[in-house]
Order: sequence, then C-alpha cells, then structure tokens
Amino acid sequence: MSLLAQDPATGNQLAACGAEWLPGEPLGRHTSLGVGGPADIVRLRDSRRLPDLMEFLRRRDLRWRVLGGGTNLLVVDEGLPEVLIHLRRGEPIRFDGNHAQVPASANLGTTVMECARRNLGGLEGLIGVPGSVGGALRMNAGAYGTEIGASVRALNIYRGSAGKVETLKTQNVRFEYRHTSFAPDDILLSVLLELPERPYEQILQGVKLCNQKRRASQPIHEKSAGCIFKNPAGLSTGKMIDELGLKGTRVGGAVVSERHANFLVNRYQATASDFLKLMDLIRERVLKAYGVELEEEVIVWRG
Ligand code: EPU
Repeated sequence: MSLLAQDPATGNQLAACGAEWLPGEPLGRHTSLGVGGPADIVRLRDSRRLPDLMEFLRRRDLRWRVLGGGTNLLVVDEGLPEVLIHLRRGEPIRFDGNHAQVPASANLGTTVMECARRNLGGLEGLIGVPGSVGGALRMNAGAYGTEIGASVRALNIYRGSAGKVETLKTQNVRFEYRHTSFAPDDILLSVLLELPERPYEQILQGVKLCNQKRRASQPIHEKSAGCIFKNPAGLSTGKMIDELGLKGTRVGGAVVSERHANFLVNRYQATASDFLKLMDLIRERVLKAYGVELEEEVIVWRG
C-alpha cells in the first residue's frame, strides 16, 4: 500500500521539502509491539520544514497521521491508507536556567537524563517510559507519580485546522490521566518544560529506584506497548486481569504477560489480529466479572 508510488517524482518533491520517503514500510519494524502492515512513512529531519510538507500533502489531497516512537501503538495487519509523518530525532534540547526547550522528536528517556545532567529533576518517574517526547505529551505519559503534563509551560504545535505553527500556553491545554485536549490534527513540535533544580546524584537515585520498580513489575525485555488498558478510577486493570487467572493466556503469538497482566507481549510472532482478539477476550471477562468496561490505553490505528 504505497499512496505516493504512482508518481515517480514523489521522492524528489519530498526531498525538496526536506523529507525522506519510505514507501510501503512494514510498521512492525517501527512499533514496539512488532506488528502492523505497511504504510508510507515520510521522515522530516528539520521540523521547521513541516509547513512545506503539509502543503505538499494538502495539494495531493493525502490523509496523514503522526508516527512518534511507535511504543504505544497497535497497527492493524492490513496496513494504513494514510501517510505517516515522522519527525526525525537529532534536534538539540536548549537549556535556559531551569527551563528546557525539548523537540517533540527527542527520546523521552534521553531527555530525562540530559535534564538530570543539568541538575534539572522532576522527570525521574518517566525514565523507563519508552517513546518520544511528542508521544508522551499527547498521551500525558506518567509513571511513579509523575506525569509529563505537570512540567509543561508552553508548546509549539502545527495546528492542522489553521495550517500554521502556533505557541500554546499550558493554560490552553488539558492534561488528564493518559489524555490531553490536543486535536487529532495538531502536530507537536517542541515543548518548554520547567523543572526543579536538584543535585545530579539525587536525581540519579530517583531514576535508579524507578528502574528497579519497573524491572520488578513489568516485562521490559519483551515486545509490548506498555499497559494495554487504562486503569478505571480507583481500580487496577492489571490486578483485575490477574485475579481472573488470565496471565499466560495466549491467542496466536500474543500472550498476557505473567509479570504484569495489563501487558500483552508479542512472544510468538504475533499479528495485530492476535492482539485485538486477546484484548476482546480480556474486555469480555472483566466486564462479566467486575461490570467494568475497559478503555484502551494503547492507540489502535485501524486504517
Ligand atoms: N497487580 C497485580 N497483578 C498484576 C499487575 C498488577 O496484582 O499482574 C497489582 C499490583 O500488585 C499493584 C496494583 O495492581 O497492587 C497496581 O500495579 P502497578 O503498581 O504495576 O501499577 P499499574 O496501575 O498496573 C500504572 C500505569 C503504568 C505505570 C505504573 C507505575 C496505567 C494503565 N498503568 O500501572 O503505566 O508504569 O502504574 O506507575 O496507568 C503505561 O502507561 O503503559 C504503563 C505501563
């Protein structure tokens, strides 16, 4: 499924926008779950060129989505009819006192450590959360009492509705539990974080503690997308799935992790359909036993 392949000049035109074209790329290679059919990826090295790329896609009447780190994403086996815009890593973090201007393309864990080296803490809990800063912002990623939204002071975004880059103050964004008020066609470009000053050693202690907890309770060495379902208010989804005896349950190559029941892992060359079936099974069992409807935490791109 390559939307852009019909026109041989596509590669050159995208290069003129500062973008690299990867036609029909199997998304299993770009997601931590390791599943998903093909789609065209367009990689942008310099996010300042995004308006040019968006204009190119608009002229061609092409639909698009943004691919971040692919670590909280389940893509269907059939692949996707949209072009996937990917902001390439490499732009630097800029520091000014206790503020860090971080590109959305930056890796979250690397960002936590770069800030730590500048004696800027407050992000320790996020150390083991895989993925990009942009993805973490969109989902308001959190762990061990830290949510990224709490440190955000301003954001640069490309507003799909307006077709231009805007700076948003935090007051104009809602950061909730694994949910934000960004529109689907907002593309996050960079964020201004305000972080408390702390000695590096102290930050490192916090980081080590979170890493230990994560290693002890999550299957960090297997292919997963983190927690598959959100926790309903006051309840723990992992605990409910565990109590139902579903750990180790397998559909095709997808398995409910024995380490943490809200993690589904790709252990035997699973397909996306295996994961979707396993998710349905869990949803049904939890609904029947607890009367609770589980909400997906993983983003599912159904095409
Ligand atoms: N539990 C079980 N069995 C399990 C898993 C958990 O009994 O198989 C129990 C634990 O013993 C504990 C309770 O359930 O009493 C909560 O478990 P845990 O501390 O592992 O936290 P969680 O609520 O399952 C949340 C986030 C994680 C985050 C951790 C640590 C969600 C859906 N999950 O997990 O985030 O890393 O807290 O702060 O909010 C993610 O977002 O992808 C994610 C993994």
